[in-house]
Amino acid sequence: MLSADLIDRLKREAVEASRDAYCPYSRFRVGAAVLAADGAIYRGCNVENASYGLTVCAERNAVFHAVARGARSLRAVVVYTATPTPTLPCGACRQVIYEFGPQAEVISVCDGPATIARTIGQLLPDAFGPDSLETPGRARSE
Ligand code: THU
Repeated sequence: MLSADLIDRLKREAVEASRDAYCPYSRFRVGAAVLAADGAIYRGCNVENASYGLTVCAERNAVFHAVARGARSLRAVVVYTATPTPTLPCGACRQVIYEFGPQAEVISVCDGPATIARTIGQLLPDAFGPDSLETPGRARSE
């Protein structure tokens, strides 16, 4: 469980990250903040593209930011949308969060009073992940 102070800090980071969102097509601004096992916080925003399918969500950008800085174990992901109700991560982002945080807490916050808190296991039950590749006789490279 994260402390209320830490959740507040992560929420602030996610709100700040959303200011950098590049979303001229959807105008749906999203910010995310990821808490790594060592306490470091990494941010991301959604980045859209004129070739719409190339858009990357805020959550994935935050996780990739963390991993690109050497983090491999994630405790929590906070997602902020400037909406009256919270937004939960899409399926692709759930899979990416699971890769580095199979126990991660996912907390969605918004401009309204509602917050949704789930574990990634609740959002992606029976997940396929790194352990699924651990078959006998198959070496893992990293
Ligand atoms: N988006 C996110 O960044 N995170 C979510 O959880 C849902 C969707 C983005 C992708 C796209 O830029 C816009 O929101 C509309 O789908």
